[in-house]
This record gives sequence, C-alpha cells and structure tokens, in this order.
Amino acid sequence: MNEKPPRVTVKTLQAMKRKGQRISMLTAYDYPTAKMLDEAKVDCILVGDSLGMVVQGKSTTIPVTLEEMIYHGEMVARATDRAMVIVDLPFPVGQLSIAHTVESAANIMKRTQCQAVKMEGGHQQAAAIRALVDAGIPTIAHIGLRPQSVHALGGYRVQRDADQLMTDAKAAEQSGAFAVLIECVPPDLAKLATEQLSVPTIGIGAGPHCDGQVLVTNDMLGWNSGYVPKFVRRYADLRSEAAKAAKQFCEDVQKGTFPSAEESFGS
Ligand code: KIV
Repeated sequence: MNEKPPRVTVKTLQAMKRKGQRISMLTAYDYPTAKMLDEAKVDCILVGDSLGMVVQGKSTTIPVTLEEMIYHGEMVARATDRAMVIVDLPFPVGQLSIAHTVESAANIMKRTQCQAVKMEGGHQQAAAIRALVDAGIPTIAHIGLRPQSVHALGGYRVQRDADQLMTDAKAAEQSGAFAVLIECVPPDLAKLATEQLSVPTIGIGAGPHCDGQVLVTNDMLGWNSGYVPKFVRRYADLRSEAAKAAKQFCEDVQKGTFPSAEESFGS
C-alpha cells in the first residue's frame, strides 16, 4: 500500500531555513499541473493571482476575484498530498477592513482546504497579517514588487528602496508571517533581508541568496507566448512541442490517416 507522504508545513519550512536547505515553490492553477508538481516534490505550490495573466490572458492581476481564487485553489489543493498549498488573497481583499480580510481568507481556507494564504504588503498590512495569524491562518507576506499595486508603483519595476524593503520585511515577520516572498529586488537587498529575518525568504527576480525560489510554472515550462521576464529560466519549451503536436493532428485529419484501425472500435 502506498503511504501518503507527510505534508510540508510551516514548521518544515522554518526548519529548512535553520538547516540551510533551499525551499522550492511553483505556481499551479489546475488539478493535473498541481498533481505533477506534487509528485515532483516541489515544497510549496502557490495558487497565484498570476492566473489572471497566464490563464485568463489579462494584462494585470487586478481583475481576479475571490471566487476565482477559490475555484482554482480547490482543484490544486485536492491534487496534492505533500506540498504546502498557498492561495493568494486577490485585490483588494488585503486592502479593505481587517474583518473583511480575515473573513475572505477563512473562506479560502474552508472551501479550498489549502494550508496557507499569501497577502501582498508588509508594513501597511501589518495589522491584517497579525489578525490572520491570530485567526489561525498561516500567512506569507509578499513584498518588493507587489503586482496588485502595479499602477501605484508606476509599472513592473525593480524595487531598489532598501529602507522600504527592510521595513516591510521586519513588519511582516513581527506580525507573525511564517515566510516573506520578495519580488524583483536587487540580490544584495534580498540577501540582507534573508540574513536579518528568522523566517524564510522566497525570492522571484531577487537573486540567489533567498532561502527559497518561486517561479510561475507556465513561464518556466515555456507554455506562454509573449513577454518573459529576465529572471525566468526556461526549463522546457512546451508551447513549441504542443504546437507541433496540434499541427500534426490537423495534417493527419486532413490526410485521413487519423484514426487508424487500431484507434477505432471493431463492429
Ligand atoms: O501570483 C503569483 O503567481 C505570484 C508569484 C509571481 C510569486 O505572486
């Protein structure tokens, strides 16, 4: 009988930081992708609101709704045995009243059965992070470039303000965040935060010094067309492979070579 592997928890991630073991995180938005990532032993699977851009084809993450996060989060959580599943709080859940933030996050936890939520913000969201943690909802804070604030930040830009980053990082930690995700900052700033925090840092476009790394799976598998950020490493070219297969299928249908006798039922 196949025993289920133990689930990665907040404690696992904190022990990994202490032992200097790097944490892997990738995004998923559907059951088969989440199952594949879980079997590949990715430590954390993030149901990111990046789904607005990579799944829905929108230009920002801002239009993504709470119901959409729950819809995708439930499929992902159901597919996993080992990975910690983290679901994003969509805009503007973390920016409204604290009661609304806690209620929305609790709704996500109840209906998806995920293990944690992610919220954009640090210093300004400190009270909301504290309220989530006090309600028993493990929370990871997302600082540096916060895509939900793209218009306020003047675009998807590298964030170079060291004081702001450290203020956000420390406020998140002091409010009880179990980890801090740092997006698009120079490596030396991410290094400073990683050294000064006792909770793990997970970087994206933040250089090699973080305690862990996260990428958008669709980017790293080469599944998207169009712009790919500088920090993405392409581990596969699935879009070209899939396009070749689709063209071959069209040719076979036109030539009448699909389906063959073996692919048909006998009478
Ligand atoms: O929404 C998301 O997928 C994210 C990653 C870019 C870290 O926040």
